[in-house]
Amino acid sequence: MHPNSDPARLSKWALLVSSVLSIVFLAAAAIRENVAAEWKGVQREYKTILLAKSADAVARRRAEAFSIEIRQVTVPALKVVDRCVSCHNGIEDGRMADQSQPHRTHSQELLKWHPVAKFGCTTCHQGQGLALTFNDAKGEEAFWDYPLLPAALTEATCATCHDPRALSRGSAAKLVRGMELFDVKGCASCHKIEGKGGSLGPALDNVGLKTKHQFMRAHLSGSQTTWNWHSEHLRDPGGLVPGTKMPSVGLTAAEREALTVYILSLRKRDLPEAYLANDKIEEKYAKLHPAAPKGEALYAKYCSHCHDTGLYARWSKNFKRFIPAIRNQAFLRLEDDECLAENILEGRPGTEMPGWGPKAGGLREAEIQAIVEYLRGETKFTALPPAPARGSAERGHRLFTMNCAGCHGVGGKNGFAPALANAVFQKAATDAFIAETIRNGRGNTPMPSFGRAGLGQQEIGDLLAYIRSLAQPVRQARSYGRAPERDQVAGSEER
Ligand code: HEC
Ligand code: HEC
Ligand code: HEC
Ligand code: HEC
Ligand code: HEC
Ligand code: HEC
Repeated sequence: MHPNSDPARLSKWALLVSSVLSIVFLAAAAIRENVAAEWKGVQREYKTILLAKSADAVARRRAEAFSIEIRQVTVPALKVVDRCVSCHNGIEDGRMADQSQPHRTHSQELLKWHPVAKFGCTTCHQGQGLALTFNDAKGEEAFWDYPLLPAALTEATCATCHDPRALSRGSAAKLVRGMELFDVKGCASCHKIEGKGGSLGPALDNVGLKTKHQFMRAHLSGSQTTWNWHSEHLRDPGGLVPGTKMPSVGLTAAEREALTVYILSLRKRDLPEAYLANDKIEEKYAKLHPAAPKGEALYAKYCSHCHDTGLYARWSKNFKRFIPAIRNQAFLRLEDDECLAENILEGRPGTEMPGWGPKAGGLREAEIQAIVEYLRGETKFTALPPAPARGSAERGHRLFTMNCAGCHGVGGKNGFAPALANAVFQKAATDAFIAETIRNGRGNTPMPSFGRAGLGQQEIGDLLAYIRSLAQPVRQARSYGRAPERDQVAGSEER
């Protein structure tokens, strides 16, 4: 047998080669950690800058004493151990204002109010505090829940301890802009925050705590961070979440950035009271004594996204249907305040119209009342002529199929126009209201006048009988203080 082909000998060689390789590998790693470590390079460079900037002997001696070592800030109250200062050595040194990162001086205004020793860095910046390479500190690739925020988005963390609107000199201007946009762009018409808002989208109270793994990223290109997700989602919701009901509301890049900052700021953290700024504590107390509600502002925030100005029926591409004109005189003349309030409190379950009462959209009765007053404006409710007696539901059915189902849907459901089978509609609408709507139609909306088209009292009575036969079981009458005399105003009304 040839010695080289001895299997035992071969495996001994293999063992030798592999152990030499792993020793080399370990040695390289050790050198990388100890001699060529990123933070050491940074500190050596910093020391050189420090020496160059030393004007006198005292400064020079101090610079020479700068030792190359890991530095860290520990703040047990915030559960923070941050080694960022191992690289960002010049953060509190005004002389470093002309240097590039990581040596540059920090905004001193901020550090004056938030001393590094008391606040650390990740409290405001996020990122992996213990990391000793910049890449790990960023934590975007690593399995790190809250990676370093880009500097442009850092204001997202201010709201943890502040009421951003109260901050001086607009130091959280972008965040405040995002809060305003949230109201102006009607985001609250579909999203609740602190229990107030619509219900088509998820509540957003703690959306800023969600990690990237909690978002659907199959269609997300570019940076796989939550902030890139939000920015892209605001630009084109359907592009990330196919089939979503969230519309693209037409935002500039700057507006998307401000909204992203606000979205990321939505989070609750339990912090020791001592860390809450006075303005945050005042904000908490202010919430216990809400100001008198303003109808117009509430309408803009919660209703206008869907109803627009409310002066005409709006075609919604997103919902593929008409949204009723609720500030239209033709409507307001026919509907009294109690009825309006009932529609708003309960919404129209099964349609896009959410309920807004305390248990649904979270609006207080006083707020609903303010909205009703705003909708009504100058238009008075006029006493309606009595409705014709209900006739034959069978004849009504035929009339409905011919004249109405094309818009209102077969059986008064799932059409382009209000769902007449809806329980809340059936409860809130009187016969006189329905009859008058059919007879006169509604100006500024696609609802035609069938009186003009030749339908007489009897046909309208037949339609009434049919429409009432559509009624879905009504959840038994919660009363919202409707005036009892209302039905007398409506005349020959029976329910
Ligand atoms: C190993 C050294 C190192 C550590 C540790 C480190 N940084 Fe940096 N940091 C850098 C360098 C280098 C840059 C400049 C990077 C560049 O310009 O690409 C930088 C840039 C930044 C920036 C500028 C914005 C950006 O994304 O480029 C911020 C903010 C920042 N660091 C915060 C932190 C925080 C907070 C920590 C601790 C969690 C930290 N850094 C830890 C080296 C470090
Ligand atoms: C009170 C919150 C807060 C704390 C605490 C804080 N920062 Fe900042 N930092 C900010 C904000 C906001 C900005 C961006 C705006 C600015 O420069 O005023 C910023 C900017 C920076 C930048 C420059 C980023 C750029 O590209 O301009 C670096 C680097 C940085 N911080 C590092 C740190 C480090 C390291 C610590 C801890 C020693 C720290 N910060 C502590 C809020 C904070
Ligand atoms: C961990 C809590 C915490 C965070 C996060 C925080 N601050 Fe503060 N901040 C404080 C406290 C506490 C004070 C002390 C003043 C007080 O009690 O009102 C303060 C004071 C200030 C002041 C001076 C007082 C004033 O109202 O003008 C400014 C400006 C300020 N912070 C801006 C910011 C900005 C901008 C951010 C976000 C980048 C931020 N803070 C993040 C806790 C925080
Ligand atoms: C017509 C209703 C509607 C409007 C208006 C709307 N959204 Fe949405 N939103 C949704 C729906 C539905 C979802 C869930 C599906 C999805 O992610 O697209 C959603 C998802 C979200 C999410 C992700 C929440 C999570 O936990 O995954 C955020 C953040 C968000 N919306 C913010 C906004 C902002 C900001 C605005 C205002 C510019 C807005 N939305 C306007 C319906 C709406
Ligand atoms: C061309 C489409 C169209 C046709 C046809 C049509 N409607 Fe309408 N109808 C509407 C629209 C749109 C509204 C909502 C108007 C608004 O914005 O206030 C409406 C409103 C109504 C309302 C009031 C609903 C509410 O929630 O206040 C009733 C009742 C009604 N229609 C009955 C009928 C009947 C009965 C017929 C057939 C005889 C009919 N409509 C035919 C489009 C139509
Ligand atoms: C997400 C979209 C959406 C939002 C937000 C919304 N609505 Fe509606 N609203 C609708 C739709 C759709 C209908 C028609 C529902 C149906 O009957 O099919 C409707 C119907 C109504 C009606 C009944 C109109 C009629 O003709 O009888 C009233 C009143 C109303 N909304 C008031 C409001 C008020 C007030 C707000 C804000 C507090 C609001 N809505 C917010 C979509 C919305």
